[in-house]
Amino acid sequence: MDRALEATPIADGVYWVGALDWGIRNFHGYLTSRGTTYNAYLVLGDEPILIDTVKAPFKDEMMSRIASVLEPGRIRHVISNHAELDHSGALPEVLRTIRPDSVLTSTMGARALKDHFHWDLEPRVVKDGERVELGNKVFQFIHAPMLHWPDSMLAYLEGPGLLFTNDAFGMHLCSSQRFDDQLSRSLLEYEAAKYYANILLPYSGRVQKLGERLSRLRLPTSMIIPDHGPIWRKDMDWITRRYLLWAAQVPTPKATVVFDTMWQSTAVMAQAVGDGLMGAGIDIELLPLDSVHRSDVATKVLLSGGLAVGSPTLNNSIYPSLADLLFYLRGLQPKNLLGIAFGSYGWGGQAVGILEKLLGEMSVELAAPGVRVRHVPDARAMQQCRALGARLGERLMEECNQVGQP
Ligand code: FEO
Repeated sequence: MDRALEATPIADGVYWVGALDWGIRNFHGYLTSRGTTYNAYLVLGDEPILIDTVKAPFKDEMMSRIASVLEPGRIRHVISNHAELDHSGALPEVLRTIRPDSVLTSTMGARALKDHFHWDLEPRVVKDGERVELGNKVFQFIHAPMLHWPDSMLAYLEGPGLLFTNDAFGMHLCSSQRFDDQLSRSLLEYEAAKYYANILLPYSGRVQKLGERLSRLRLPTSMIIPDHGPIWRKDMDWITRRYLLWAAQVPTPKATVVFDTMWQSTAVMAQAVGDGLMGAGIDIELLPLDSVHRSDVATKVLLSGGLAVGSPTLNNSIYPSLADLLFYLRGLQPKNLLGIAFGSYGWGGQAVGILEKLLGEMSVELAAPGVRVRHVPDARAMQQCRALGARLGERLMEECNQVGQP
């Protein structure tokens, strides 16, 4: 067995044995600008335990890290918290190599693993709340359906108080560091928000339920240990509070202005809309879709109370980039947004109406009727755009005042 790569100790007898994917940039449509990690963990004891595995091409990297502390064949149990292939892709080959006594997973996990690998393996199904002794280690399992798939669960190791959360509280961030306190807060804040916006946002109700459940359980926890990005050993309260904030999606005095443009008319309209918003005291981000990825727009939308969308009319419809974005956002189900639409046209002029319809399908409340301009906006049209932005800003401020947001 190749022992070239090292495991990283994270607690007494517990090691990170995952893989670093520096190069990935597309994670099913999400721009992973800083790569990602597939975290797996080895717990030493009477009966050594492997928690999750890695994406299939990274199997050797994981096995090498395991071999740096333990002959892999000595692993007796594998806990599979989630069957998605970034955590289970290497599992079949790992099982063939190490031949453990048991694979522990949720009911839905057993089904999902079978659907993926079409094998005869009979995993040991653990119930929600079940407490399981594995040699001299005791785990509690907490099912967390839809965070991120129906099978997802958390594993809590009694004693050191380690909460292995799989996708929850993770982020796509590859780095040399394994812990939150080794990385800058602004980097963690952006990447954690991006992960939440693009992976967990549709399941915000489940996030709130998990938060309530963990509060009730009062498990003494020294680390929150996700399967992507850094381990939370210092700022556990910060990330759990952020999750509850993002799940609530309370209106904020921030707006995202997102647009594409053909001959710069919709671009200058976007500028005027943004100016109106700023005049109303709103913090804005102006995002041209020819250079900003949909997953970064989704991140800004998570942190916004207002969404202004602009598109020229192209072939009696909206720009393909806007269609891509709005269908993507619709799937993510952002809540409590106020919106407006704007855009230029040459003859048909359907884009603004289509944008408004799509916003309605996302349950975005329109703050004012949209503005459309034939060909190139003149001073009056620019004033209309500014007023449109100002109206959105005023409505947003009213909403924020109602819910007590600063
Ligand atoms: Fe990281 Fe849902 O898998």
